[in-house]
Amino acid sequence: MNPLEEALKIRDEIIAWRRDFHMYPELKYEEERTSKVVEEHLREWGYRIKRVGTGIIADIGEGEKTIALRADMDALPVQEENDVPYKSRVPGKMHACGHDAHTAMLLGAAKIISEHIDEFNGRVRLIFQPAEEGGNGALKMIEGGALEGVDAIFGLHVWIDLPSGVIGIKDGPFMAGAGIFNARIIGKGGHGASPHQTVDPVPIAAEAILALQTIASRNIPPTETGVVSVTAVHAGTAFNVIPEEVEMKGTIRFFKQEIGELIERRMGEILEGVTRAHGASYELSIEELVPPTVNDRDMAAFARKVAEKYGLRHGDAEPTMGAEDFAFYLQRVPGAFLTLGIRNEEKGIVYPHHHPKFDVDEDVLHLGTAMEVALAFEFLR
Ligand code: NI
Repeated sequence: MNPLEEALKIRDEIIAWRRDFHMYPELKYEEERTSKVVEEHLREWGYRIKRVGTGIIADIGEGEKTIALRADMDALPVQEENDVPYKSRVPGKMHACGHDAHTAMLLGAAKIISEHIDEFNGRVRLIFQPAEEGGNGALKMIEGGALEGVDAIFGLHVWIDLPSGVIGIKDGPFMAGAGIFNARIIGKGGHGASPHQTVDPVPIAAEAILALQTIASRNIPPTETGVVSVTAVHAGTAFNVIPEEVEMKGTIRFFKQEIGELIERRMGEILEGVTRAHGASYELSIEELVPPTVNDRDMAAFARKVAEKYGLRHGDAEPTMGAEDFAFYLQRVPGAFLTLGIRNEEKGIVYPHHHPKFDVDEDVLHLGTAMEVALAFEFLR
């Protein structure tokens, strides 16, 4: 079996599925229609199905080894601004990250694998997961047994930063770990004309925000990477009233767990020190959303070998500070998160992920399907 030839045969079908999903986007944990369409096809092709809410775990084949392939199915609360025949039919919702393409490519792989399952020496597990966008759907799937008996796992994300048709492969840390923080600086309110009778939290917050910038510039080793972004600041309502408190929120990003811990510790120390210096107090909560996505070196090398063998164009993927809940699978099972370039200047497909004009170069989706089939085929030899 040649995965690329097989994928070429169903190229139009993959595009048609993608357009259908694109027209009817569903937000996290609401993927009812999408998962129904996926399940109907998988049943028809002979997969054994286990439902985990709107998620699907689908197995085919028997043998000692199991490889898992994962696609995410959720869309975003974005109003689409593309003028295309397959434009989102749902106001305020859009597949602006390409998860419609992921679902369609893995469906294509499912079809090809089912037609050739006698040539696979083991079991293929497909994971169609809900809620990648801030819902940690991966964790729900893992709780539902998605990784039981799995020896290796691969995921594929369409990627606007890579030229169309190139498969991006990266060793080690690929996407960042992410956390959300909420902070309050609590002073003492009063009349705007009498600051000496208050503990004004506004200049204290200003000082704290500037001091937080020193975590990246002065605390994280220059050879490492980390981000602290204060993205929201709220205080006061009137021109002549000094408020009681200032609320701030933002995000932190890191590639190594120890850097994440360093950021968290320094945030606490800075807020503690700055507020104490001015007689104010603070509250800080940091919620870790997703760990870093770290590709297994051997699995990345395996993916490279597979791409080479089947003549699939591939190259290095640059690490990004974006986060991805595929990280949870990779914490438990060796594997790699790969990308498929979809950037095509001639077609005007240049807008970043999550943009209202985001689109994918459909003409290369079959390459993603081919790569998925090839990974499974070679792993189960
Ligand atoms: Ni995404």
